[in-house]
Amino acid sequence: MSQIHLAPSILSADFARLGAHVEEALAAGADYVHVDVMDGHFVPNITIGPLIVEAVRPVAERYGAVVDVHLMIERPERYLADFARAGADILTVHVETCPHLHRTVQAIRELGVRPGVTLNPATPLATLEEILPTVDLVLIMSVNPGFGGQSYISDSTAKIARLRAMLDAIGSTAELEVDGGIKPGNAAAIVAAGATVLVAGSAIFGGPNSVADNVNAFKRELRVTSDE
Ligand code: DX5
Ligand code: ZN
Repeated sequence: MSQIHLAPSILSADFARLGAHVEEALAAGADYVHVDVMDGHFVPNITIGPLIVEAVRPVAERYGAVVDVHLMIERPERYLADFARAGADILTVHVETCPHLHRTVQAIRELGVRPGVTLNPATPLATLEEILPTVDLVLIMSVNPGFGGQSYISDSTAKIARLRAMLDAIGSTAELEVDGGIKPGNAAAIVAAGATVLVAGSAIFGGPNSVADNVNAFKRELRVTSDE
């Protein structure tokens, strides 16, 4: 796998100084900005929307970083245009929220945004089989979505490896992103299973160390490539 990307989840950032916090992570070498959108229906928590995407977009642009928006909301098709306008580069929807997943993926692409799909820990990979050839990113949830700071579900590693085999079998170059409970200590195993994008919230924005130190701890474990 040529390039591994680190995607700090701003869910664990300090919202009173969001721009500076995101900038610290990007300056240290992270190259995605992961935005967790929750609606209090599909998941129990309520978080943020297009306004925050719009706010972080200029910071991401300054570093050439990808604005990666994870929609944990019911009927996401209602908001795709708003998130595209706000500056999302990737819009990822849950298969559990999209009865017409192909239509939703096409709608994302028509907005000029890269489509991603994701699924909860208990949702089988078979639900993705038909859509895989048409997406640019597949996200494996390694926690039940809703909150930062949860523990990595260890069975996810085998699921990542199975998805890697499915992608390789169709010659897909889609990113394989993993989200939830990722720390420097488990990052290498997740990459070895086939991941190309690692989301990390609490391990980057939480704890006593600086954001730069936390990003560097990941870089020591992986060889995260940015434009350095
Ligand atoms: C969970 C979110 C994750 C979360 C990751 O529903 O999708 O992106 O913020 O946080 P950590 O890295 O703390 O598990
Ligand atoms: Zn997420």
